[in-house]
Amino acid sequence: MFLTKRFQDHLQTSYLGHDFHYYPITESTNSDAWNLVEEQFSNGMVVLAGHQKKGRGRHSAPWRSSPDSSLTFSIVYSISIPPEKLGLLSLLSGVSVVTAAKNFIETPMQLKWPNDIMARGKKAGGILVETRRKGSEYLIVVGMGLNVNERQEEMPKDLETIATSLFIESGVKIQREDFLAEILVKYEYYLNNLKQVIPQWNIFCTHYNDIITFHQGSEIIEGKFVGVNENGYAIIEQDGITRSYSGGRLL
Ligand code: BTN
Repeated sequence: MFLTKRFQDHLQTSYLGHDFHYYPITESTNSDAWNLVEEQFSNGMVVLAGHQKKGRGRHSAPWRSSPDSSLTFSIVYSISIPPEKLGLLSLLSGVSVVTAAKNFIETPMQLKWPNDIMARGKKAGGILVETRRKGSEYLIVVGMGLNVNERQEEMPKDLETIATSLFIESGVKIQREDFLAEILVKYEYYLNNLKQVIPQWNIFCTHYNDIITFHQGSEIIEGKFVGVNENGYAIIEQDGITRSYSGGRLL
């Protein structure tokens, strides 16, 4: 059960989340958001699900979540930004979650490029950014799936070694209404202060200077992760040469 009034009472943004839609059961909030956008675009709209039956993850994977324990929602906005900088919006999303979490739990959260939300080496949340062009601007739907109050027994057995929740790692039950309101406050702040996104992201990166392997299309790339550039691309050092990569799936 999500207490919409409590969320609205805690929401201290100038526009993000003011147009709020809550669906107790739906297929995917990202799909709902696009359907609502087609009817009428509303800048800063947020769509939250009590439960998603067909949650969509990155790379066409399904996204599974527990009803009433997780937060599964999408944020809609338009932005005028050069196309090469769109990746920044992924990083911004992760930064807004981990900085918001600091207000609720002491357990540090980290980020795995480009935007997996991590706690003690396991994934606690994921972000799916979808974009469409609208004239000189982009319409953005940012979907976030966060494992918040799940107990260990609620987590899918096959994901036991790689997935976790904020509760499992911190022992703290988080009031989801307050957490969502705080994430939106941070999100709006970083949208207004895009220059702060990269330095913040680097602070929370969990694999800085590590040798990492990732898929980009059919290619497997291995090298030392030495940070992200001004567009949010991964900078990888291979045999003394640095290259930047716009996307990929870290192993
Ligand atoms: C990932 O694969 O890491 C991204 C997962 C994103 C899941 C969220 S849940 C809310 C929103 N609606 C969806 O269908 N997907 C995103």
